[in-house]
Formats: sequence, structure tokens, C-alpha cells
Amino acid sequence: MAKAVKGSRTAKKKTTTKTPVRRPGVKRAKAPARREPAARRWIELRVNGRVHALEVGRDLQPSTTLAVLLRERLGFTGLKIACDEGACGGCTVLLDGQAVLSCMLLAVEAHGHEIVTVEGLPADDPVIQAFAEQSEPGHGTALQCGYCTPGFVMTARALLDENPAPSLAEVKEALGGNICRCGCYQGIAQAVLHAAEKLAARRAQGVKS
Ligand code: FES
Ligand code: FES
Repeated sequence: MAKAVKGSRTAKKKTTTKTPVRRPGVKRAKAPARREPAARRWIELRVNGRVHALEVGRDLQPSTTLAVLLRERLGFTGLKIACDEGACGGCTVLLDGQAVLSCMLLAVEAHGHEIVTVEGLPADDPVIQAFAEQSEPGHGTALQCGYCTPGFVMTARALLDENPAPSLAEVKEALGGNICRCGCYQGIAQAVLHAAEKLAARRAQGVKS
């Protein structure tokens, strides 16, 4: 990876497309087909249901990552850029329904795709509810500082969309690419299992996830 120019994330040169997903247990997303990003003048992304038209060279650079665009240009600060090299899962968002590491994807490569950040999930999303409940006293907590939580929530969301009733082993495998520096892994896995139970209860009532 090229060295970052000091103080500028957007100046970071990411000229190669790396596989944006590293989620064992969660279906791997193919990187979007490249569309000669350097030549494109405009890109359009649908983020949390709203279309954003952005000019390359003004709103973003060809080297701007999707993570930086989402956080610094569009204000979706739920995702976290911690390692910025695909190793922690803090920047996980859904791209066309699949979990991707947004720090590993150029923003221009997301042109024409549908993105969901943690802000795009409804407040009563079962995964969000389960994480919130798992932080109550008496449970092994799923969050302390909460820094990693959006990444875990989005990874869990992708897992449950594909596998609504995962085993504990499958949950652990799917979350294997996410790091929690507070060490709440047990509580996080329990929260995902609780979210799966909530989804099952909703389905039994005829409510879509
Ligand atoms: S910030 Fe993207 S994986 Fe760590
Ligand atoms: S709760 Fe602090 S990093 Fe996970």
C-alpha cells in the first residue's frame, strides 16, 4: 500500500482493488466491476435510501475510499475508520445487502450501488435492540465504549439476512473479522443470537425483519 500523505486521508493512494469483504460465514461480495474510476466525472450512490450525486475532483478524489466519503463528506459517522486497512471491521457497511469493509473500497467503485450504514437501520431493528439489551446489568455486555458496535451490528445484520438462525459457532465465524478492543466478544455473540430469536418471533407474527 502506498504511504499516506500526512494529514490527508483522501490523498491516500489506493490504486488496487482489494476484496472488500472478509467475512467467513457471510457470503462474499464481489467487488463492483471497475468502471475506469479515474475517468468518471460523476458518481451516484444510494445511501440509506437517498441518492447522492457527487462530482469527482470536487466532492471526492479518485483515490477517496468509500469510508472517507461516507464519514467526512456525507456525515455518516456511525462507521468507524480505525485501522484503515481492512483488519478491524469498524467501517463495515452493507453494499447491495452484503457486508463490506468500506475502507477497502474506492468510493468511485461504489457508483450505482445501494449502501446502508448503521444510521440506515430502523431504531427497532432487532440487531440494534439486542445489542442495547445486552448492555444492561446482568448480561455479559455486548458493548463498553461502543466504538466497535456499528461494525458488529452491520456484520450481524448481513449474517442474519443470509442465515436467520445461525449457531453460536456460525456467529463467531461470521464476526471473526471484527475487533472489539474492550473484549466484549462473548456478549456480542449472545446479542446476535438474541437478535436471531427476535427475528424468529417477528416472523412468527408475520412481521418482516
Ligand atoms: S477501518 Fe476498515 S477494517 Fe478497520
Ligand atoms: S465495546 Fe469498546 S471496542 Fe468494542
